[in-house]
Amino acid sequence: MVNLSTNTGGLTLKNPVIAASGTFGYGLEYCQYMDLNRLGGLIVKGLSLNPHLGNPPPRIIETTGGMLNSIGLQNIGVDAFIKEKLPLLRQYDVAIIVNIFGQTVEEYVKVARRLSEVEGINGVEINISCPNIKAGGIMFGKDPQQAGFLTKRVREATPLPLMVKLTPEARNISEVAQRVEDSGADSISLVNTFLGMAIDVETSKPLLATITGGLSGPAIKPIALRMVWEVAQAVSIPVVGSGGIASARDALEFIIAGAQAVQVGTANFINPAISVEIIEGIGKYLQDKKLKGIKQLVGSLKIPAHEKTSH
Ligand SMILES: Cc1cc2nc3c(=O)[nH]c(=O)nc-3n(C[C@H](O)[C@H](O)[C@H](O)COP(=O)(O)O)c2cc1C
Repeated sequence: MVNLSTNTGGLTLKNPVIAASGTFGYGLEYCQYMDLNRLGGLIVKGLSLNPHLGNPPPRIIETTGGMLNSIGLQNIGVDAFIKEKLPLLRQYDVAIIVNIFGQTVEEYVKVARRLSEVEGINGVEINISCPNIKAGGIMFGKDPQQAGFLTKRVREATPLPLMVKLTPEARNISEVAQRVEDSGADSISLVNTFLGMAIDVETSKPLLATITGGLSGPAIKPIALRMVWEVAQAVSIPVVGSGGIASARDALEFIIAGAQAVQVGTANFINPAISVEIIEGIGKYLQDKKLKGIKQLVGSLKIPAHEKTSH
């Protein structure tokens, strides 16, 4: 048997496949389609201190090879999650990671503190990368100094394993990653969505009510993969890859590029049980290649000698 277990900085997962935040509800919505116990982990929809309604519709548009969304972090708020969702989620043998956001540093700190007071949460993912809200989110993720400051404050507020989710919109994503590492993060996840837009040519109006939104799905995979490869070389904490993963082969590419684990997002909307197929596919690949476990594969990219000097 191959060993699918992996570690994302203070958090051991039974396999490297995690459902990505915002594409998997609060987890419970998916239990009629798949066995949640199969997942390495699941990341809950981004939570804030108070409930949020998000942005007005239309806020989801299908695009070639992906989708644009401008949900705007609609959520029930941290207290309702703890009271209504967590007791049910805890019944499953799956790592529960809670994605958080705030409009100010203080709000992030308060949400992290609140989550640390309860049992059953295995990690926190800080979203400093949402392109769909006016304050907070991406504002912190584009600037290395602000990203570092926020990470440090949340680090002081919680003993839970801390993953920081980066935006591909940063000018130098590796610099942001290094600052986040220096500020106490246990792991880094990347990427969140890319800023994009779509226009109805009949009316000349934007298709999203917010004009722009976040692009996700297979269309972004090659860029996300390149960024994961770069960041994995720039930091020594574990990196979790995401962006357009829709098959075991996609996931394997990210792992070979240096990711200890992967997040599956948009693909859940096409096949809600896709993560199980990805987990099984990774296991089969390891078996076929006669590898004992994931760890042998992480960062195993082979670069031909002449390529190392020619770029
Ligand atoms: C509808 C939708 C909602 C999302 N909501 C969140 C969120 O609340 N917090 C967050 O950090 N990322 C959020 N994301 C980003 C995803 O978690 C993921 O990082 C991104 O979509 C790239 O992966 P993918 O191409 O596999 O979807 C959302 C993405 C989509 C499509």
